[in-house]
Amino acid sequence: MKLMNSLPPAWRPRRLRRTSALRCLVRETSLAPADFIYPLFVTHSDTGPVLSMPGVARLDVPGCVRLAREAAEAGIPGVLLFGVPEHKDPAASGAADPSGPVALAASALKAQVPELAVITDVCLCSYTDHGHCGILAGDRIDNDATLPVLANMACAHAAAGADIVAPSGMMDHMVAAIRRHLDAQGFPEVAILSYSAKYASSFYGPFRHAADGAPKSGDRKTHQMDPANVREALREIEHDVQEGADMVMVKPALAYLDVISRVRTRMPEVPLVAYNVSGEYAMIKAAAEQGLADERDAALEVLTSIKRAGADSIITYHALEAAAWLQA
Ligand code: PBG
Repeated sequence: MKLMNSLPPAWRPRRLRRTSALRCLVRETSLAPADFIYPLFVTHSDTGPVLSMPGVARLDVPGCVRLAREAAEAGIPGVLLFGVPEHKDPAASGAADPSGPVALAASALKAQVPELAVITDVCLCSYTDHGHCGILAGDRIDNDATLPVLANMACAHAAAGADIVAPSGMMDHMVAAIRRHLDAQGFPEVAILSYSAKYASSFYGPFRHAADGAPKSGDRKTHQMDPANVREALREIEHDVQEGADMVMVKPALAYLDVISRVRTRMPEVPLVAYNVSGEYAMIKAAAEQGLADERDAALEVLTSIKRAGADSIITYHALEAAAWLQA
């Protein structure tokens, strides 16, 4: 009698944490291979492991097809191609070369792994001899002189078979310039994933080694965003969507989960990609190597947190390994 009159028993959250099955029943965020985009570095000749990124290599076209097929078989829906060209000059003339590594890899992938979405990075930093993301006028990057070069590069990738082009140079109006040129050249169906909110981050170091795209002088603070800003990121994203971006990106991911979350809340209808960048990957590899963290657990925790923050998909160098861990 006494029991029936008393208040309901207090909530005991541990009841649903007792077993793996119970935890699974109440899990709020799911992670699957279908959430991942796998970045690949394609080159003609200079193949081999990237020392700053254990498990990552520069690949020739057949190597790229092999790894992309593995990704597709693991349930990963897309790859992101970065070119490491042999030739560099101030005009980035290799960027739109139809026989450059990215164009060749894109057409080989469309022919040999047709189920995979092919995304190509569109930026000049690996193609300029000075390593800057645009065409220089003196020591400044000339925004508007860079736009047609990016638009031509995007069209070369589209002509080779890219499904999505991903401009990463943070030039103002790059999305509009690329959209206009793609449409004019007969590629209205090719989508644009804009690196809309890309921060001037210290976490790109290993990538710049892999893609051989570090600036020879100065930094990228005149075009990439200040890590202190989030309202500006929302504005960048809205602007890119107005210019015609089909998907938008926040990059890096881990130190910017609040940005991902704010974008998701503000624009719930826009596909949102987060880039779990090279430095974030290398940190986990280094911690695991020193016995400071379990690589599987740490990587899956990070990827889950990026999904929880609101990303629809995640570009990650851990994609293949994470897909295998998730299926185990
Ligand atoms: C090119 C580009 C960079 C990355 C992606 N595209 C380097 C940079 O902006 O310096 C970084 C990716 C990573 O660190 O994994 N602009």
